[in-house]
Amino acid sequence: MTRPAQAGAPSLELARDAALGVMENAYAPYSQFRVGAALVGVNGAIFTGCNVENSAYPAGICAERSALASAVAGGVKQFSMLVIATEADDPTPPCGMCRQALVEFAPRLTIVSCTKHGGEAQWDLSTLLPHPFTPAALTHHQ
Ligand code: THU
Repeated sequence: MTRPAQAGAPSLELARDAALGVMENAYAPYSQFRVGAALVGVNGAIFTGCNVENSAYPAGICAERSALASAVAGGVKQFSMLVIATEADDPTPPCGMCRQALVEFAPRLTIVSCTKHGGEAQWDLSTLLPHPFTPAALTHHQ
């Protein structure tokens, strides 16, 4: 689901609702760990994604990268905030592979993680992934 850009910055509340809503569509029959993600573009558009698992386990994709793919496909590559939603007891940060995927586009991304039970935590991506590998590295090799 993609919510069109709105005038002004979308509220955290809107993105939280989107993440919690799309979590319901997660396909997680193997882990039973459903995740929803709402990635907010600098233009205010919200792109959502959920985890989609597979019987061939490595073929599954996380909610965050699912949302990122949707955003890029929608023509948006600059982001102000990511909201993650789970049913875990405590808010969970994105996995390492998703941190790497996100840092490509938004090194200082604000990441909010919320639970279905009302828990919430917030980080800056630069804190979660210090000393990242970035596109700049590829321009400085021989
Ligand atoms: N998962 C996500 O979607 N995002 C994360 O940040 C952590 C893990 C998914 C992958 C898998 O489908 C399930 O959660 C259990 O790892």
